[in-house]
Amino acid sequence: NWSMDDFIDLQIEHIRKEVGDKKVLLGLSGGVDSSVVGVLLHKAIGKQLTSIFVDHGLLRKNEADEVMDSLVGKFGLNIIKVDAQDRFLTKLKGVSDPEKKRKIIGNEFIQVFNDEAKKLHGIDFLAQGTLYTDVVESGTDTAQTIKSHHNVGGLPKDMKFKLIEPLNTLFKDEARAIGEKLGMPDNLVWRQPFPGPGLGIRVLGEVTPEKLRIVRDSDWVLRDEIKKAGLDRDIWQYFTVLPGFRSVGVMGDGRTYDYTIAIRGVNSVDGMTADFARIPWDVLQNISTRIVNEVDGINRVVYDITSKPPATIEWE
Ligand code: XMP
Repeated sequence: NWSMDDFIDLQIEHIRKEVGDKKVLLGLSGGVDSSVVGVLLHKAIGKQLTSIFVDHGLLRKNEADEVMDSLVGKFGLNIIKVDAQDRFLTKLKGVSDPEKKRKIIGNEFIQVFNDEAKKLHGIDFLAQGTLYTDVVESGTDTAQTIKSHHNVGGLPKDMKFKLIEPLNTLFKDEARAIGEKLGMPDNLVWRQPFPGPGLGIRVLGEVTPEKLRIVRDSDWVLRDEIKKAGLDRDIWQYFTVLPGFRSVGVMGDGRTYDYTIAIRGVNSVDGMTADFARIPWDVLQNISTRIVNEVDGINRVVYDITSKPPATIEWE
């Protein structure tokens, strides 16, 4: 019957013993798990940890800055941030098939990470935010047969690292509790699930900078209103999707012909099944009004009332 404090102390001791005076590399995704590992390792071995954070340009608004401000600014981690937006967008040009997009993003991610890792020398260990559930579910994840999921920070093939996975006995809620104990801010600890391919699978079909802007800005408004309504911890996952078709609207005296944005909000335990969230009408109304007013190119907002199954959570 161990407490979170005991866990942290034991892990720190264990990590110090294992790593000695060697160096450790960590791939940060901005998600809870890798961030907690980063802070924990930094506490244990300080400057012997180097982290790589690949910004693939498919992150939510302000996400990269929030991660950097907090982990570098507050906790003092040494993070190499790679701005790889152009690399990803170039690779995605002309590609509209969801699984092809996933593969391209996943492969490119590993390549960017490897390119960066190769510049570093004398690294013996690779740290990962693997949870207990990742260990027991690997290979049996049925979602994987429907959509290929890529976990961030694939192991560089031609580099031989020893693995460090300090969270691999924990469930998600325990990893969050550790994060809180370590003094990490709510926006990192209580981050909703976010797919590796990011906004790339929320712009349906071909990903363009203009469509990314629309999905990113509308998602920002949605998150802001959900937070203002005090629902941000009650809804498991919520985001906007750009289906990519246009429809007719009216604004002032004029006719518009603009994009429709869809809002997706679900409650779930593990993402395998999900129920659409019963967001109050008045909250939805605020979201709708603000998105149409604040995001150029949108004249219609719809709410997805399908559960999983038969729909999946993401639209692609
Ligand atoms: P679906 O859409 O399969 O989503 O019902 C279930 C959960 O998984 C997330 N998801 C992904 N996560 N890479 C990821 O790391 C992916 O390619 C991917 N596709 C979906 C989704 O956000 C939801 O939480």
